[in-house]
Amino acid sequence: MPAITTRNFLHAASALLVGLVVAACGKQAPAAPGASAPVAAPAVSAPAPAARMYVVGTDAAYAPFESQNEKGEIVGFDIEVVKAVAQKAGIEVKFLNTPWEGIFNSVAQGDRDLLVSAITITPERKQTLDFSIPYFDAQQLIAVKKDSKISRFTDLKKLKVGVQNGTTGDEIIAKLQGKDSANIKRFESTPLALKELEGGGVDAVVADNGVVVHYVNNNPDSKFKTVSDSSFSSEQYGIAVKKGNTELLEKINRGVADIKADGTYTQIYTKYFGSAPGAASAVAPAPAATASK
Ligand code: ARG
Repeated sequence: MPAITTRNFLHAASALLVGLVVAACGKQAPAAPGASAPVAAPAVSAPAPAARMYVVGTDAAYAPFESQNEKGEIVGFDIEVVKAVAQKAGIEVKFLNTPWEGIFNSVAQGDRDLLVSAITITPERKQTLDFSIPYFDAQQLIAVKKDSKISRFTDLKKLKVGVQNGTTGDEIIAKLQGKDSANIKRFESTPLALKELEGGGVDAVVADNGVVVHYVNNNPDSKFKTVSDSSFSSEQYGIAVKKGNTELLEKINRGVADIKADGTYTQIYTKYFGSAPGAASAVAPAPAATASK
């Protein structure tokens, strides 16, 4: 560390200047009793500290949450949520495409400050990361070919199933088939798993409902349909920070609460999912049993 930094020097210089100005004033015209003291406006203003840029890691192969457009820009629901949160929190963010594999490590090692990647908050992950308050409700969903006989999750017991490695979809199929089952085909990304389903290499893909629905709707030529199962538990997405980074986490939490309170969140949600959160939609079906009259 240098003995005198530019900032320290400027501080010292402006303090000196203020001192001289005050001394000079004092000599010329002593302040009348009751008059306010001369305002010590520094002649040289210290440079504003550069705004800290927070680096957000995201696996941008997970539309509509995060993906890359034709220009290579990272876009999606998660991106808009974090941008809005950052604005409320008064922080600056930039997004870096980060492979899912190793994404949690990237924040632990300090290469990323934040993660937004449709990440389900789980007890295991909470041991190594801190999560914001939830910002999205999700559930697993099965994608199969339109002519498939598969009608529920347990039908997948002895079938070839594609998942993105290390996701909650991977976890639930590992529970059904056994972790080391040769029928679980683990892919680097969810689109790769879905491509494999299209080519017939697997019988089904298990992934987050929002992504599966988006893919099925946008790729009619794949001839997929979705199968849901009541055994799937509800999941919630959170924004992750390095364990113990409470200062940043508090900013994020306040931002999330703010965008939920002022309608910004609903606006983003509706843009991506066609209806307000909680309303009946393909992504978050309203529980039939509680339909109101
Ligand atoms: N929600 C799932 C999980 O947390 C899948 C997330 C995958 N996200 C992504 N951007 N690839 O395990």
